[in-house]
Amino acid sequence: MSSLRIRLFQATDIAFADTVRALAGWNQTKDDWLRFVNHQPDGCFIAEWDGQPVGTATTTMYEDKVAWIGMVLVHPDARRRGIGRALLEHCLKFLKPRVACIKLDATPLGKTLYDTLGFKDEWTLQRWQTERVELPASPMKYHVRQWREADVEAMQILDANAFGVMRWPMVKRITFQRARWHVHETVKKRIVSFGVMRKGARGHYLGPVVAESIAAAGPLIKEFLTELTNQPVYWDKPYGAKELAVSDLLCRSILKDLPNQPIYWDIPDANTGAVELARRLGFTPQRLLIRMFLGENNWPGDPQKIFALAGPEIG
Ligand SMILES: CC(C)(COP(=O)(O)OP(=O)(O)OC[C@H]1O[C@@H](n2cnc3c(N)ncnc32)[C@H](O)[C@@H]1OP(=O)(O)O)[C@@H](O)C(=O)NCCC(=O)NCCS
Repeated sequence: MSSLRIRLFQATDIAFADTVRALAGWNQTKDDWLRFVNHQPDGCFIAEWDGQPVGTATTTMYEDKVAWIGMVLVHPDARRRGIGRALLEHCLKFLKPRVACIKLDATPLGKTLYDTLGFKDEWTLQRWQTERVELPASPMKYHVRQWREADVEAMQILDANAFGVMRWPMVKRITFQRARWHVHETVKKRIVSFGVMRKGARGHYLGPVVAESIAAAGPLIKEFLTELTNQPVYWDKPYGAKELAVSDLLCRSILKDLPNQPIYWDIPDANTGAVELARRLGFTPQRLLIRMFLGENNWPGDPQKIFALAGPEIG
């Protein structure tokens, strides 16, 4: 008789987890796995079949209100044995007494499973991708700079308005990975957008980007792309001493190949400003994801203010 067991994810499971991640062609890194476990050590799980690891699932709780389920992966040799369903049911058993609303961003394959567990569709998003960036001419100058500790309060408010609940502890953890992180500040010193660009296993990942409007998000996103084509360097720690100069790099329209890897960018379809900007910058839609929820969707956030997800596995 074969046996299935679900147990807690340990840091020593990262090598296995990253292998199934790579087999699925996903973009997360070993640093991401470590972040999931550090953020929710009691809520990340491994499925074992006859004592061997065969599947993964992570959960991420925000403010005891909303939680995300992510990284639901079953090794291709072990699929269609009920392992995916067992992992999901285990996550739900863990989360239901702890939060009012459980969310996830489903692939069409995952959705067939989540539908049967009672999840409802909320909205759709697309993964956009490019290997070649079209940087448009801009006569304007903007103040886009690395963020610092004094900006955090304003960023937290922006983020909570967009996302629906406070997720700062998780965002802060992302900035401690190899990443670049910026804010866009008006002449009156108001922070109107912030964002992160980080390195994934298969490509650069733009997100999260949160902004008051497309006018606030555009310069920030263009700054990331300009830097990436000029100087693809990632910082190891946030709040470093380096302050970026006022961005005046966007005075010419340039078409540039990216060094080595594509950029991925996950955009809610409802954010038509972000969708239009992605098209203009040379991105094309690559695949569909469906945001789904279970329970009371009391903190829906505002997709018009979400210009890039933090990741389908964390919202
Ligand atoms: C999605 C995934 C986790 C399912 O894992 P699994 O262990 O094969 O799933 P289960 O055996 O528990 O199947 C559960 C249900 O999922 C659905 N399902 C799973 N694989 C399917 C397939 N290839 N086609 C259609 N439905 C499928 C079915 O409804 C199935 O119920 P059934 O067995 O009664 O028909 C697995 O296919 C996988 O790792 N895919 C790649 C990564 C991915 O897409 N993850 C989901 C992210 S949202």
